[in-house]
Amino acid sequence: MINVAVLGYGVVGSGVVEIIKKNGMSISEKAGQKICVKKILDIRDFPDSPDRDLITKNPEDIFEDPSIEIIVETIGGAGVAYKFTKDALSKGKHVVTSNKELVATHGPELLKLAKENNVNYLFEASVGGGIPIIRPLNRCLAANEIYRITGILNGTTNYILSQMKREGKDFDEALKEAQAKGYAEADPTADIEGHDACRKIAILSSIAYNEFVDCNNIYTEGISKISLEDMKYAESMNSTVKLIALSEKVGDKIAARVSPAIVKNSNPLYNVENVFNAIIVKGDAIGDVMFYGRGAGKLPTASAVVADVIEIVKHWGTSGGYDWQVKNQDNIIDINDTETKFFVRLKVKDEYSAKEVVGKVFGDVEWVKMCGDGLKDELAFVTGKTSEKKHKRLFETIGEHDSVIQIINTIRVLGD
Ligand code: HSE
Repeated sequence: MINVAVLGYGVVGSGVVEIIKKNGMSISEKAGQKICVKKILDIRDFPDSPDRDLITKNPEDIFEDPSIEIIVETIGGAGVAYKFTKDALSKGKHVVTSNKELVATHGPELLKLAKENNVNYLFEASVGGGIPIIRPLNRCLAANEIYRITGILNGTTNYILSQMKREGKDFDEALKEAQAKGYAEADPTADIEGHDACRKIAILSSIAYNEFVDCNNIYTEGISKISLEDMKYAESMNSTVKLIALSEKVGDKIAARVSPAIVKNSNPLYNVENVFNAIIVKGDAIGDVMFYGRGAGKLPTASAVVADVIEIVKHWGTSGGYDWQVKNQDNIIDINDTETKFFVRLKVKDEYSAKEVVGKVFGDVEWVKMCGDGLKDELAFVTGKTSEKKHKRLFETIGEHDSVIQIINTIRVLGD
């Protein structure tokens, strides 16, 4: 029998305990040994929980118990979870986690520590919730040179944007619903401002390109400036707005970003709604391959955590896993040197002269009219593809012109 301890009895941790109890028989059959949750660590009291007898507030009950050989870390964050993970690996205990912040920020160090102690540090649940993506990327697609990863990697923001589009709900109401459903981070700023998706694209890129990609170097913009009007404009272009995380290999460097983007209805990501996540991976041998499923929530995420536990038990006595070398600290291309198209909304004084100026500044643009009556004193258009550096200059120039009152919003357009 293999004893497991769960650190953090929150949404995901309690889901892990629930799945191991509910599917215990088949899990043990697949793993080849019985898997049992021996202890749960949490500083809170859970008097009504069916698992209350397993819950301890004392870490020593777990770390000093040699019969506990696998630790599931579902605390989150890079504070106490970092310390506990290092303690566990140093003591020769395997660690499985859903903690993307910790993996994205301390991955190389923790993987090295796991290797030195002949144990595993696995994190399938850190990206895409229940979607199998890390192991398929590392194993099933290992024969490919991966060129590009494009994804919807945050369930909370995808839920908010879907509710805004489908139900006309406002941002705050949709966020409250996502929180109630257990999708959002403890502090949802990480979701809304794109940091969660940024950590996830950094993890996927590190796996795909076989070198550490530091999330701190990835340009990140969230969805807090996206309005119902932006959604309506997108609709009139047969498109929608999604929070898109992408990374692309360019020579020996990587172009990566997280930002809202206009996504055409011909792109499979257009139809990814609510809490669902999707990841399109482009490899030289396979072409495009897409992964789709529930990207957040108690049982989907716990499903991926428990799969990692089974993986360890099934291959008991072996260690290994991912090898993220820090090959080049400077492996991300500056966002200013990457190219994109922008959708632009302007508040104008006089449509005629503003249109003339837009033509002079941006050259050929694609004018966009909102479905229905449209908005008064507004112009909207899609620019051609050029560098972000040049776009910045053009936005400054247009913003200073007399006929333009304000640049209301600029949203990147996802390329094909
Ligand atoms: N807050 C995250 C999300 C949870 O909404 O996607 C899953 O990582």
